[in-house]
Amino acid sequence: MAQLWGGRFTKETDQLVYNFNASISFDQKFYKQDIQGSIAHVTMLASTGVLTEEERDQIIEGLNGILDDLEHGRIEITSEYEDIHSFVEANLIDRIGDAGKKLHTGRSRNDQVALDMKLYTRDEIIEIKGLVKELMETLHQIMKDNIDAFMPGFTHLQKAQPVTLAHHTGAYMEMFKRDYSRLCDIYERMNYCPLGSGALAGTTYPLDREQTAELLGFYGPTLNSMDSVSDRDYLIELLCALSTIMMHLSRFCEEIILWNSNEYQFVSIDDGFSTGSSIMPQKKNPDIAELVRGKTGRVYGALMSLLTTMKGIPLAYNKDMQEDKELTFDAIDTVKGCISLFNGMMKTITFNYDRMEASAKNGFTNATDAADYLVNHGVPFRDAHGIVGRLVLLCIEKDISLDELPLEEYQAVSPVFEDDIYDAISMKTCVEKRNTIGAPGHDAMEKVIALNEAYLADL
Ligand code: ARG
Repeated sequence: MAQLWGGRFTKETDQLVYNFNASISFDQKFYKQDIQGSIAHVTMLASTGVLTEEERDQIIEGLNGILDDLEHGRIEITSEYEDIHSFVEANLIDRIGDAGKKLHTGRSRNDQVALDMKLYTRDEIIEIKGLVKELMETLHQIMKDNIDAFMPGFTHLQKAQPVTLAHHTGAYMEMFKRDYSRLCDIYERMNYCPLGSGALAGTTYPLDREQTAELLGFYGPTLNSMDSVSDRDYLIELLCALSTIMMHLSRFCEEIILWNSNEYQFVSIDDGFSTGSSIMPQKKNPDIAELVRGKTGRVYGALMSLLTTMKGIPLAYNKDMQEDKELTFDAIDTVKGCISLFNGMMKTITFNYDRMEASAKNGFTNATDAADYLVNHGVPFRDAHGIVGRLVLLCIEKDISLDELPLEEYQAVSPVFEDDIYDAISMKTCVEKRNTIGAPGHDAMEKVIALNEAYLADL
């Protein structure tokens, strides 16, 4: 047991207590950020005269040595230390002796861990943004390739009106654009440096918090030392944003699973992204989509855990807050994996255009357009709705589509119908006529795709 605080104790810590309390098994994940923060701290301490330049140089050299040794596997982080902070400090003292004992001057583990977690999270947000961007690029390509690929649009999972694959994919594009901007917002709000807040009440040393903030790439120092050491809002916000990403991925996965089913056959997931059955030789299962859908639960769980952990904590730091790490790390790793896998699956998926178009055609998705035809010929919409409803019923009885119903039958229900009804309810017309902003019509889609192109080029 290597601890930083033995002085006022008369007994060894019970081993179970030590194990329960220790965080080294997971906080080693931010060893790099811990060292980065310490280097900024001692740089500042020397510039304000708290340390000599020689001490600073010795400490920085020692810290860089630890980093290098860790990265090259020459030293190992072991459970002999309580946490990553103790590991780095003990290792430094081993290397450089007394100067190492000055590293922690004007600092507490409370502001140190708040800093490390922020630095780590900040890096991860940048990485997740990159992955969301890559996914959006894949979706953008699918949109560009499929402006005229007709498919049914659904409400209540019942065929509603025809749309295109570009339009359907575009809905997800909008979701991921919002996800991306949520990540940017969180970054903006969180990017203030807690280092220098001490245990809770600042320190008596002449720390230059603006300098450390700047050295570490923050917009500035946080403004209340009690809040600084106990703020986990940014993690809650991040977990909420990650949960929303997972919700979007999960909805898309659900659709891919349906579309890949034998009943739909709209898509075929690439063999490289499918799995088989140990007993049924014919099976090709959409496990990746199912797993992404399934893993959504654990990311939501992380959000609920942290919200619950934080709800009763009095100011300032309390050990409960150590619980922020494992669940945030797990959520981040889960989301990164899911976005990458989902992106890979979408890059290689193939679309069965004939099935999609045939499905759009045989579900009366043009019934609204038939009613609109009557409205354009002076029939009030409510009457038109009733007339087309009767025609649909007739078609169901005959097991045909509206396109196949003879003109005499149309005219028997309403004399307003002429031969041009067939053109008015063709799939192409149904989609093409919908050209308001955001609608699936070709021109409307092209405008949105051009906007997305500029958006992606600017990220
Ligand atoms: N492992 C702790 C955490 O993650 C570090 C801070 C410990 N501070 C303390 N006063 N015990 O929160």
